[in-house]
Amino acid sequence: MTSAFQFQEWLSAHSTRTESALESLLDSDQTTPKRLHEAMRYAAQGGGKRIRPLLVYAAGSLGDAKVEALDAAAVAIECIHAYSLVHDDLPCMDDDDLRRGRPTVHKAYDEATALLVGDALQTRAFEILANAQCEVDVRLFMMSSLAAASGSRGMAGGQAIDLDSVGKKLDLAGLKQMHAMKTGALLSCAVQLGGIAAHLNPTQMTCLKNYSQALGLAFQIVDDVLDATADSQTLGKTAGKDAANDKPTYVTLMGLDYAQKQAKQLQAEAIASLEIFGSKAQALQDLALLVVSRGK
Ligand code: IPE
Ligand code: IPE
Ligand code: MG
Ligand code: MG
Ligand code: MG
Repeated sequence: MTSAFQFQEWLSAHSTRTESALESLLDSDQTTPKRLHEAMRYAAQGGGKRIRPLLVYAAGSLGDAKVEALDAAAVAIECIHAYSLVHDDLPCMDDDDLRRGRPTVHKAYDEATALLVGDALQTRAFEILANAQCEVDVRLFMMSSLAAASGSRGMAGGQAIDLDSVGKKLDLAGLKQMHAMKTGALLSCAVQLGGIAAHLNPTQMTCLKNYSQALGLAFQIVDDVLDATADSQTLGKTAGKDAANDKPTYVTLMGLDYAQKQAKQLQAEAIASLEIFGSKAQALQDLALLVVSRGK
């Protein structure tokens, strides 16, 4: 049996597991107010590659994580990610109509609902972690890690830099920082949550941090490349949006060729960081390959 075949099985099993964890941990669309809960489910359940939950499960498999801790972490991080997309698409941010192959939340519902969907998905994420059936210190560490990655020093801060950079030419260090914050922080946190749940030691956590920081940056570089090279149908979101909105990206600053090479180099760095885990880290390795080769 080849490694690729095993990974496909792993991927399929853990994608299914993500969907059922979301189904059981999100409120039903019959909960009052029904329209808000229906819109939250629309935002969180409408497809998506589920890379962050998959990273939680893959990192969690490196130690003795409780199933409940991993399911809670997988859903919590996907709720934060879904909220970030709903707000990212609003007219006051990227002004996008298409997400995951469907109308964005503010198009399918309305802008006020989209704002509230983001607010409520964010708080639900922390409620899910607080209620996870695992040790109190694991829950607390996961909550503090997710809060730091989502907030002004993480995703939200990166989005602020993104908006402030429209029409400006960032230098490479500035661009890297923006990408590391707006996208890298949550991807990195996904890996960290898995490691926390799995009770990994500080040395192991440092290796995971090196892996996830390289992967997080590679992920946004690939997103920039695909925005410039793929079509809307393949992406499930509006292609060419970065150029249309005059955003600084790896492609506009460094060119397509450099961006692609940089993503490959970061992929190699990410995989090299996993050495101490040996074959136990196969899923994390294969996820790094998947992230950088997607869209090809
Ligand atoms: C898109 O993230 C936004 C970025 C942070 C680049 P994904 O590419 O993970 O989006 P989904 O979840 O698969 O829709
Ligand atoms: C989004 O970056 C990062 C988020 C925090 C959502 P983009 O604006 O490039 O994401 P897409 O391309 O719309 O998915
Ligand atoms: Mg954006
Ligand atoms: Mg966007
Ligand atoms: Mg993009």
